[in-house]
Amino acid sequence: MASRAPDLDTLAQGARTDVAGAGSLQDLTSVRARYLGRKGSVSDLLRGIGDLPAEERSRVGQQVNALKVQIEDWVAERRAALESRERNRHLEEHRLDVTLPAAGQPLGHLHPVSHVQRDMAQFFLARGFSIEEGPEVETEHNNFDALNVPADHPARDMQDTFWVEGDFVLRTHTSPVQIRAMTGRTPPFRFIAPGRVYRHDFSPRNSPMFGQVEGFAVDESVTLANLKELLYAFAKHMFGAVELRFRASYFPFTEPSAELDFRCPLCRGDGCNTCSQTGWIEWGGCGMIHPTVLRNCDIDPERYQGYAFGMGLERGAMLRHELPHIRLLYDGDLRVLEQL
Ligand code: PHE
Repeated sequence: MASRAPDLDTLAQGARTDVAGAGSLQDLTSVRARYLGRKGSVSDLLRGIGDLPAEERSRVGQQVNALKVQIEDWVAERRAALESRERNRHLEEHRLDVTLPAAGQPLGHLHPVSHVQRDMAQFFLARGFSIEEGPEVETEHNNFDALNVPADHPARDMQDTFWVEGDFVLRTHTSPVQIRAMTGRTPPFRFIAPGRVYRHDFSPRNSPMFGQVEGFAVDESVTLANLKELLYAFAKHMFGAVELRFRASYFPFTEPSAELDFRCPLCRGDGCNTCSQTGWIEWGGCGMIHPTVLRNCDIDPERYQGYAFGMGLERGAMLRHELPHIRLLYDGDLRVLEQL
């Protein structure tokens, strides 16, 4: 049987129609495979060339190869058209409106301890106090001796001290600012001194670094009643209705001395870890400035009296936000801070 030259025109027609009809890139890939793939029609033809009469082989071979190139061209053309259609569709669907306002950065807020500090300053400034500052690295003299806490006195152990080289300490309280502010000044005066203090101490209520606000006033007729009124008004300003306890205590630099406690906001008096089962949390110490301290600052205690107090800042933030541990205020954990 004489072998017939294959009908290349029909094949080309079919390929052209199929390529043009491919509706997607995926379709196109399978159309291409049908003609040019390993088992495709054109490959079949190429394989069949060997069976043709010798005189036809080269001509048919050239025609088939030309057809192959032709189909590749059509496929490439169709692919470009499909890709561009796809791109346009995507652009159409994901239209970007450059005139829309930007999404904006999320805003942070003041740290709860900064809030306490600001509210506090507002209260005292309104009552005629001025703000005084002192260094965090303080002389042993200002931190202890001038405050009537001599070296061999057991009261030094009340505050576990971080010593710095020489006669310096990381101040254990803001009370040394009393010495700095009163020395060389003539009463009457009123100051607050907020700042950081350091003690070797750690518990749910204590951290080695914490904030205090010192406050003191000296005049010719200052009484313990003035101090009490001030602190109760201060607490009301800071916390609204809060149960307070004024408890007799001892400090070498005040006489008489007291501590001011607030109801534990977590257990409300039943006793819990945060308040060490006492139902109360100490907010700070206070009292009438000891005559020796006044004398150390060249103020005549026969003529002048004064009161002083030192309150914890973090304790205030703990009360406000019912925090069980002081460390929550320092960890910088946004999951906590964003709730406060
Ligand atoms: N300095 C004391 C303390 O840190 C608090 C205090 C201040 C007590 C002023 C009395 C007067 O414990």
